[in-house]
Amino acid sequence: MKIAFVGKGGSGKTTLSALFIRHLAAAGYPVIAVDADINQHLGPALGLSDDQAADLPSLGAQLPQIKEYLRGGNPLIGSADEMIKTTPPGRGSRLLRIVEENPVYASCARPIALDEGSVRLLATGAFTEEDLGVACYHSKVGAVELLLNHLVDGQEEYVVTDMTAGSDSFASGLFTRFDLTFLVAEPTRKGISVYRQYKEYARDFDVALHVVGNKVQGPDDLAFLRREVGDDLLAVFGQSDWVRRLEQGAEPPLQLLEPANRAVLETLKQQADRAHADRDPQRYTAQAVTFHLRNAQSWGNAKVGIDLGSQIDPGFVLGADQRDGAHA
Ligand SMILES: Nc1ncnc2c1ncn2[C@@H]1O[C@H](COP(=O)(O)OP(=O)(O)O)[C@@H](O)[C@H]1O
Ligand SMILES: [Mg+2]
Repeated sequence: MKIAFVGKGGSGKTTLSALFIRHLAAAGYPVIAVDADINQHLGPALGLSDDQAADLPSLGAQLPQIKEYLRGGNPLIGSADEMIKTTPPGRGSRLLRIVEENPVYASCARPIALDEGSVRLLATGAFTEEDLGVACYHSKVGAVELLLNHLVDGQEEYVVTDMTAGSDSFASGLFTRFDLTFLVAEPTRKGISVYRQYKEYARDFDVALHVVGNKVQGPDDLAFLRREVGDDLLAVFGQSDWVRRLEQGAEPPLQLLEPANRAVLETLKQQADRAHADRDPQRYTAQAVTFHLRNAQSWGNAKVGIDLGSQIDPGFVLGADQRDGAHA
């Protein structure tokens, strides 16, 4: 299952994605954690020291090798240089699975031992001021889109992505690559405005969006979120002393998280598990193609110098039937 946490900066995306990851790992499920935020904080939130976090390999820097691996023997893709972030897989492409060893994980993922369980972490890499211009910035986030488009995953195995806030994810198809999107919102007008904007973009693409209230302090906060968000409100995470202790440098065990907040994590998991029934491989693949064509026309064809539409394999659908390697 592919799951994203989005929302305004400071709303608690990193905090809640890290807790959700720990909750899943504690129950023994395979989890890949992906840090796709401009501010790379997921590693530290999962317990890495600043030095360890700084040493994480970056997907952005490994992009050429990642492309070369994923391209495999796909005859429609002439070379890694011809692959853009939206180039879809086709027959002959190499697909990724959550539980396996492959060269992409070997070079880019790092195992993290948690107090209960363990996960693998992939990070896009830190963004510099220059990156925010165009090319590099999008190639970093683009690596995540490419990976998700080549990832065949099943029930009870999870990729959890801590996403960048706001409209950057809409410049590409990245926001459509998840089975479930949790929008973290504080009970404030700004928190809600990010939700409205996201919902607007998401509507045309059947994005399954749920709001997770955060730092909720009492009945008035809850009433505010219910009023503004309606049925999209899935759960509310309270203002948490446990999170505050973490922020103060303590390493509180997950077991000691407030029971009501722990229950929220389980609600998110159950929602993720329900989302499995709504997955539609045809739609998922068709959307990848739509965004590939858009990117090809708006900049890709000009940049690469070929018609990138020719990379689309019309007979290919990314789906669970490939999990066991039938197409690999
Ligand atoms: N439920 C909570 N209770 C207390 N503090 C919280 C809670 N959620 C987040 N915080 C604090 O709010 C700040 C921003 O959270 P963070 O997860 O870094 O936000 P984001 O990733 O959306 O920018 C951090 O200092 C974090 O410790
Ligand atoms: Mg963050």
